[in-house]
Amino acid sequence: MPGSDPPPKYFYQGYYLGVKFNQFNNFVPPSFKIGGGPLPAMAKKSQPNDLMEKIVSLTKRRGFIFQSSEIYGGLNSFYDYGPLGVELKNNVKRLWWQAMVQKRDDVVGLDAAILMHPKTWEASGHLQNFTDPLVDCKKCKKRFRADHLLALTSAKPDLGTMKEGPKKKPVCPECGGELTEARQFNLMFKTFMGPLADETATVYLRPETAQGIFVNFKNVKDSMRLKLPFGIAQIGKSFRNEVTPGNFIFRTREFEQMELEYFCRPKEAPKFFEYWLKERMDWYAKTLGIKKQNLRLRAHQKDELAHYAAACSDIEYNFPFAGWSELEGIANRQDFDLKQHAKFSGQEFSDIDQDGSKFVPYVIEPSAGADRTVLAVLADAYTEISGGRTTTTESTKELEVVMKFDKKVAPIKIAVLPLSKKEQLAKVAKEIYDQLRQNWTCDYDEVASIGRRYRRQDEIGTPYCVTVDFESLADKAITVRDRDTMKQERIKIGELVEYFEEKFK
Ligand code: GAP
Repeated sequence: MPGSDPPPKYFYQGYYLGVKFNQFNNFVPPSFKIGGGPLPAMAKKSQPNDLMEKIVSLTKRRGFIFQSSEIYGGLNSFYDYGPLGVELKNNVKRLWWQAMVQKRDDVVGLDAAILMHPKTWEASGHLQNFTDPLVDCKKCKKRFRADHLLALTSAKPDLGTMKEGPKKKPVCPECGGELTEARQFNLMFKTFMGPLADETATVYLRPETAQGIFVNFKNVKDSMRLKLPFGIAQIGKSFRNEVTPGNFIFRTREFEQMELEYFCRPKEAPKFFEYWLKERMDWYAKTLGIKKQNLRLRAHQKDELAHYAAACSDIEYNFPFAGWSELEGIANRQDFDLKQHAKFSGQEFSDIDQDGSKFVPYVIEPSAGADRTVLAVLADAYTEISGGRTTTTESTKELEVVMKFDKKVAPIKIAVLPLSKKEQLAKVAKEIYDQLRQNWTCDYDEVASIGRRYRRQDEIGTPYCVTVDFESLADKAITVRDRDTMKQERIKIGELVEYFEEKFK
């Protein structure tokens, strides 16, 4: 068990697409120091894994993401969101909820329990089919995911597809030993309900939020008097005992999903499938502000499709550590789920068409990962400026890092910075801070030179800094500094709320 004494040894080290990982701290960039300290010296242009190292380091140093139970050596592939991380992730989830539920009249929300009746997983097929192929090394006894090893030996490894045929028989990536035949391993976490730890009390931590929606289809439809087409949306935790988690928060064992099940008449399913592809791509680009060149849609080939899916496309992001990889899957799941739950529960989920014919609704499922979206937002925002942007401070020769978050996702919207700690300035600055944080998440910082404080805020992606100086006492105005342009504007204190309402509109 990780955390035992003496400190855990990294007994399960492996490489996956050039990234090193181990049993406890799954992402181990070379020379990666998890503690604070200055940024590493500037490389001319960050290489992908180098960039990932820097992002991981920044998120730890600046309070975005910490490894779970780090004081005990960490628990592999579990992460905690710190004060800035939770703001960032909440912003992502809130923006998803606004777009998918609040601003629509055909979608309602749900928050289902994580533990569900075990029959759910029989009906959904997870008990039988939610497996990964595992191989063991006969020599060093280490364990790997067979499909990942195939990717390693293929001509063009692709984290998203794993499609390229192997060029040579995979061997152990650690010691070159012979591997066993692949065995299937179920990814659901098991636990027991009640005092008896036996098979009859077995329940599973849900591996997707979708099933909570399907089992509530009738409850929601009847109680809200919904007519097709309509959707049910949910954000919540899912758990998968991934064999090879890794790449920081890209693939973890506990993560959050943002899923919509959009129910419609069978003949309308292709139309709504296309509709949701566009809606969801637009959300990443326009709402989250992710660069268009880092987003793409990839349609699944016929042989990639799950047996119940008539069509599926992934929205992919060009991640720095692995290239194009899945952010969200959008599938036409047909009537598979409702039919399965009707069969296993004995309930009726069919609808009646205008001509009197009965049908089971089809479902289009846009299924996104909140954590993966956070990682894409972080990678997209990370910007290095060699030599700094200002010629007037000590930053000139340093590497400056600016997190260019879209204003809507930035964890801190405004920082209030008195030019000095002097009582008169601090008093005015605190009053401004108190007022602004009624509407926006704000930070207050009076420690170190103003140049350093600006750079601290740039590094966490704060769009605006408000500087209170000695002139402010006389002219009742402050300076607003823009993160990206560094332009400074003098604004009357009495007009500040209105000014920022316009900026954050
Ligand atoms: N209900 C469909 C479903 O769960 P999925 O492709 O397995 O489909 C949907 O998962 C999304 O959930 C993925 O696109 C990804 O963003 C996120 N996701 C899945 N497994 C994950 C993991 N182990 N860690 C982090 N995110 C994960």
